[in-house]
This record gives sequence, structure tokens and C-alpha cells, in this order.
Amino acid sequence: METISFARGIPAPDCIPVDELAECARDVVARDGATVLSYGPVGGYLPLREWIGERHGVDPARVLVTNGSLQGMVFLAERFAGKRVIVESPTYDRPLKILAARGVEVTLVEMDEEGLVPDALERALQSGEKPAFVYTIPTFQNPSGRTLTPGRRQRLVELARERDLLLLEDDPYGLVRYEGAAPPTLFELDGGSNVMYSSSFSKTIAPGLRVGYFVLPESLEQELEAIAVSTYITPVLLGQATVFEFLRRGNLEPNLQRVSSLLGARRDAMLEALEEELPFARWSHPEGGYFIWLELPEQTDAGALLDRAGEAGVTFVKGADFGGAPNTARLAFSFVSPDEIREGVRRLAALVAQPVPA
Ligand SMILES: Cc1ncc(COP(=O)(O)O)c(C=O)c1O
Repeated sequence: METISFARGIPAPDCIPVDELAECARDVVARDGATVLSYGPVGGYLPLREWIGERHGVDPARVLVTNGSLQGMVFLAERFAGKRVIVESPTYDRPLKILAARGVEVTLVEMDEEGLVPDALERALQSGEKPAFVYTIPTFQNPSGRTLTPGRRQRLVELARERDLLLLEDDPYGLVRYEGAAPPTLFELDGGSNVMYSSSFSKTIAPGLRVGYFVLPESLEQELEAIAVSTYITPVLLGQATVFEFLRRGNLEPNLQRVSSLLGARRDAMLEALEEELPFARWSHPEGGYFIWLELPEQTDAGALLDRAGEAGVTFVKGADFGGAPNTARLAFSFVSPDEIREGVRRLAALVAQPVPA
């Protein structure tokens, strides 16, 4: 029996616009090969930096394009090594590991169905060193799929101003929306003085291109460039130029629509299957992104379920890996097909129904 994976937070193969990207890559090499196949500016391929700057209304000098946004997170963690960072919990596990490896003191702040709890952030600010920044994923969060409400967005931005705090808004999923109206980003609400913004073309075009970016205060952008130049000299310009060509041809919007319809069908299949198979559990209802957060009855240990899940032909990531409670799990619906999703949730439900051996 083939295992159905709800663990892989990656796009299904049909989400990747392979033919268009092949054309874009071929074109940029033919047209500008000597530039994009050489060493170049460490901050990124200039036309792409300019495109990103224009999209966010900032000078391109504030944009750092990295080999995936996680690479930028590594540079930021190196810059603030040994400092304190406040992080919503649960959160994406990789940044936590990156911060810990650089001796950053991480303070966790709770979130609920409406996202990061501003009162909890205020309490965390009452003691300890002033944080270098507050890390949040406000839209279709990894792992919970939750989205910070408009009221809380406003409150967070006000808090950042009052306390002279820097927020880091990690937003790789915001454009992958299948329904509903998008709330303003923290960056938009704030105007970019107290908010650093990061995003990526991993979910909107293709993760293998490894093109992500940060919009930063200009002095910090310079400092991160210095870390980048001593790490990889130059980022992967071919990937960045391929992304730029894709954007230049006007392919982004149609691709977002195509990807949203493919992923929306997967999300619907998972919501319907959960309703049918696990009516006694609770879960998030994301309007976009890749993930659903499952809360099983309190006495259920998702880790113990996972030990038996392989045999049952299904897998997921236990919520505890992201700082969640023992009865929680992250279900990624992005990779498997709607039919596999229905079958995978059936297998999961059968597993929950079985008593855990003592
Ligand atoms: C919240 C979040 N930030 C960053 C990343 C990394 O993206 P990239 O592929 O640009 O490194 C991911 C990838 O899954 C993510 O979920």
C-alpha cells in the first residue's frame, strides 16, 4: 500500500508551470547568458529587485533577493546571533532551528484561531531584553493555516510603532488565495518602517528556482548583503532571471489562478473528508495556502498515532514539532490529489478510532 503523505508541504507536480519556465529559462540564457551565468550583484538580479521594489513601493536598494526566503532567514539570524527574538507559537519549525543554531533566545507567544494574540505579545515585552524582532506568518500560517484578523493586524502594527519594535512578516502564501478578500499585509498597514517583509516565488511559481526575498530597512539590507557575499558570493541569477522573465511575460496572474484552483479543490476535498470522517475533531478553515491544523480530542496523542500511521498508509507532521499541543497535527493538502486526500483522511480516521495499545 502506497503511503499518502499529508506531511509534505510542497506543491503537487501539476502546480509547477514546467513548459513556461523552460521557455523563460531558454530565453534568458539566449538573450543575456553572459550576465545571468556569471557572478553578479549579491543583492540579486537587478530587474527582479526593481520589480519587487515597485510592487511593494520601496527603493530596490531595500530589497535583498536570496536563494529562497529561508536563506534570508539564515542571514538575519546570523546578524542577530545571541539576541532575543519573539515568535508566535506554533510556528514553522525551520526558522526556530535556524535561530536556535545561532544562539538566539526565542520567546514563544501564543496564538489562537485569529492568529497571534496581541495581549500575549505585550506580556512578553514586559520583561527581558528588547527583542531584535518579532517573527510572524500572518496569512495562511505554516503550520496552522490560520490568518491574522484585520483588527489584530492593526493592533500589532500600532504596538510595533509605540514600542519601536521591528516585526518580520513572512508571507510566502498570501497570494495563494482561493476565496475571500485579502486583508492588508502588516507591511502595507505600517508603510514599511517597523515591518520587514519576506516572501518567495516558491509557492507562486516553483520552489526549485530558489528565489525568495526580503524588504528591509536599507542599512540592514547592506548588512545582510555583507553576510551573503561572504557566504555564496552571488545568488543563483539564472533562477532569478527566469522568475523575472515569467513576470515580464505577464504569467504570474494566470498562474496564480491556475494554482489556486488546483489547491482549492484539494482544500475542499480535505475539509469535506474531515467533516465526514472526523466529526468529533476541530480544524482550521483556510481560504488559501497549503495547510490545515487538526485538533483531535484532548486525550489523543498525535505522536502515538504517527507511530502507527506508516502501517495504516498515511502520514502527517505532529503539531508538537511546531510547538503545538500533543493532540494537534499539521495536514498539508498541497501535494496529494483530491482522491488521495479523501482516502488519506479515511485511513487517519480509522487510526484515531483504534485504541492506543498500553
Ligand atoms: C512560512 C514559510 N516561510 C518560508 C518558507 C521557505 O520558503 P523558500 O522556499 O522561499 O525558502 C516556507 C516554506 O515552506 C514557509 O512555509
